[in-house]
Amino acid sequence: MGIPRGTYDILPNEVTTWHYLEKTAREICARYAYEEVRTPIFEETSLYERGVGETTDIVEKEMYTFLDRKKRSLTLRPEGTAGVVRSFVENKMYGESLPVKLYYFGPMFRYERPQAGRYRQFHQFGVEVFGSDDPALDAEVISLGLAFYRSLGISGVQVGINNVGTPEIRAKYFEKLIEYFAPFEAELDQDAKSRLYRNPMRILDSKVKRTQEIAEGAPSILDSLDKASMENFERVQSYLQELQVPFQVNDRLVRGLDYYTQTAFEFMIEELGAQAGVIGGGGRYNGLVQELGGPEVSGIGFGIGLERVILALKEQNVAIPSTKPMDCFLVTMGEQAQHASVRLLGELRGAGLKAERDYLDRKMKAQFKAANRYKARYVAVLGDEELASGKIQVKQMETGEQKSIAMDQLVSYLLEGK
Ligand code: HAM
Repeated sequence: MGIPRGTYDILPNEVTTWHYLEKTAREICARYAYEEVRTPIFEETSLYERGVGETTDIVEKEMYTFLDRKKRSLTLRPEGTAGVVRSFVENKMYGESLPVKLYYFGPMFRYERPQAGRYRQFHQFGVEVFGSDDPALDAEVISLGLAFYRSLGISGVQVGINNVGTPEIRAKYFEKLIEYFAPFEAELDQDAKSRLYRNPMRILDSKVKRTQEIAEGAPSILDSLDKASMENFERVQSYLQELQVPFQVNDRLVRGLDYYTQTAFEFMIEELGAQAGVIGGGGRYNGLVQELGGPEVSGIGFGIGLERVILALKEQNVAIPSTKPMDCFLVTMGEQAQHASVRLLGELRGAGLKAERDYLDRKMKAQFKAANRYKARYVAVLGDEELASGKIQVKQMETGEQKSIAMDQLVSYLLEGK
């Protein structure tokens, strides 16, 4: 028996990093006036078929789908957007004052081939905004993502943006692409071939060399955009400039999900490589709310892969703020002292101090060692003598300074020393 392929345990010493990520994200979301939403980890399979798209890799081959005991088809969420849109519709959030600005964290599940920065259970921090077409919101969402990386202390994040038009524009663009790629059909890789007539845009982000070479000459979506989309794209860019967000227009940027309209973007760190370097992505999805049974309300958001963010933190040697240090370790000697320490420990913790004692009947030296492992600021020694006198020996570990303190003064002494 072992852990399933593509999953991993987050052990206590790594949880600190996760708390740091979540805390940073929450602080930034609060500044931008986003509120947290929590949706289920599984949804009806049809939500993703309709929401994410039948021709996407996710729906075609990556979903963890199962039948429950009543033979309902359910799927572990492969991404966050579809579930949040379902919740937005089901809870009639469109009736609230718009825009509705939401964020979420959580595990996502995709049956992919595991490799660096790619897991079968991974975690995203995501945001979704509903109810406004204003390109200033596109810029806001992109700058929020960038603010997250920057606050963590990650540098070198590149922002790539594109405009993938409306479904009508894309239908015409698909024809152009098919026309362009068809003469090369025999030279395309298997994946690209299978996409040629169903979703030819996906060929543009192929990782296969020959296919890439062929794709280089393919027509650009930007040449197919109508006036409104082009103007929209220009406004998004000018707002990004206002926010001093550096970006690159990349007309080959196609996202792997079908719901996008207009703005599409990705966050990238080159040093992590082509795969793990894509540390986040998102875009507009103006038809999705309607597709999932709601009114005509537009949306935009992103998903950031937190495992890849952690890779970047490690790669760039970013120091993670450490957890609260131990305030006091109680060293006990003798049965009576052990007994008395229970109450004292309770008092320390009750006063909000982080405190611990020995539970293994260890010798004094070993107890001091344990205190050092906890990086305890103070060690208080409690033995028969101290119990008799009502005074306790307290050692400040950094300076080595020792003091004898009345036992009932320990809490206030430690609180003052904080
Ligand atoms: P996505 O591009 O599929 O978009 O995923 C977003 C991010 O999740 C990726 O950029 C990557 O960092 C991370 N990611 C994806 N798959 C894996 C994996 N197998 N292992 C580790 N990390 C992974 C979405 O999911 C959209 N829902 C984003 C969005 C929100 N668009 C609009 N709103």
